[in-house]
Amino acid sequence: MRSQSVATVMPARRIHGRVQVPGDKSISHRYALFAALSEGRSTLTNYSTGADCHSTLGCLRGLGTGISTSGTTVTVSGRGLHGFAPPSSPLDCGNSGTTMRMLVGVLAAQRFSSELIGDASLSLRPMRRIIEPVSLMGARIESLDGHAPLLVHGGTLHAAHITGRVASAQVKSAVVLAGLHTEGVTRFTELAQTRDHTERGLRAFGFHVDVDGLTVSIAGGQRGSGQDLPVPGDFSSAAFWLVAAASLPGSRVVIEQVGLNPTRTALLDVLQRFGAQVTVEQTGGHAGEPIGTVTVVGDRTGSVEIAPDEVPALIDELPAVAALAAHGGEVTVRGAAELRVKESDRITTLVTGFRNLGIDADEHADGFVIHGGGAPTGGVANAREDHRMAMAFAVAALAARTSSRIEGADSVAISYPSFFETLERLVA
Ligand code: S3P
Repeated sequence: MRSQSVATVMPARRIHGRVQVPGDKSISHRYALFAALSEGRSTLTNYSTGADCHSTLGCLRGLGTGISTSGTTVTVSGRGLHGFAPPSSPLDCGNSGTTMRMLVGVLAAQRFSSELIGDASLSLRPMRRIIEPVSLMGARIESLDGHAPLLVHGGTLHAAHITGRVASAQVKSAVVLAGLHTEGVTRFTELAQTRDHTERGLRAFGFHVDVDGLTVSIAGGQRGSGQDLPVPGDFSSAAFWLVAAASLPGSRVVIEQVGLNPTRTALLDVLQRFGAQVTVEQTGGHAGEPIGTVTVVGDRTGSVEIAPDEVPALIDELPAVAALAAHGGEVTVRGAAELRVKESDRITTLVTGFRNLGIDADEHADGFVIHGGGAPTGGVANAREDHRMAMAFAVAALAARTSSRIEGADSVAISYPSFFETLERLVA
């Protein structure tokens, strides 16, 4: 289905099948980092196959952490809280905002300085949201006008109570990790509930974390211990199949072993509001992360509006949500200006790509409206090297009358390298 970085997607009236998606990207980053900050050996199974989580492993190796991989199993030799070694070259975060932003919180507290670099997309993304709160704890960070490359001067940090200015789990995590390296108790109060894998994951490694409403507290100087943990399947990757099934009536997909952390699954309610039948069965869980099976049956296409207060819990699923209306119905998203500072400007990329596939779409400063009106023509959509855009266009293209081409399709390797192989199987 793929040739170089262009994927051809054929129309499909429905999709059908069972899928296990790769390990969760957010959880993989965290388990690797928390394992490195703990003492003793950790074995992480079902680690994400995505390039982003391998950028985190590369940075941890650059800081002297012993890491070996075998398939999707990663073994980490923990170095303890102050065990990192000065890197001999810049730490390359690739395309991964989570890697760069979480590492800032840790590196600001080291006895050495380090440089964090990233690819062209990451170098355009805002870093002041991390630099400012961590600087309030005493960090010294140089940037290029608020962007990478970042020069993080290590030093002694002090505990603080920080209030978030953007709803961001990455900012929360950076402050909490910086707090772990102080004397005293650091508190972070977030604007809205965001994914809480840092809170759950740190506890799994033996660190004590308190949560009271929107405030997370952590005492500095704690010791963690290595763990053997499985990573749940990535709900945000599963989202593309759940949406494909919901948007093409007569479809049915079953996603197995997928993470069901409630801060990640708001999409399920959106799918029901749109008209799909959704069944969820929790089958297990580890380290406070529930795992289960989600089944979606496409029934009817409707209209769904995403309110601004729903956005933080749906932020990575919004590209998929747009594709819900590719075949019919309407999707309205407002209060989502954050989409403009993701791996691409996801509002412009999305609206331009959908229009090029023959789907009527309106662009707003803080969102978009997709008007599905029967089978679109199909066409050529450019993902602008953004993995979630490539997958959203591929799902939308299933509803088209003719085949479509997705440019920049290789970007799926960031979170879901086998995406197009799975697509081929589900439409067969
Ligand atoms: C992530 C948090 C979100 C999300 C990103 C992963 C994380 O970003 O969009 O894909 O793992 O903490 P923000 O914290 O910037 O909202």
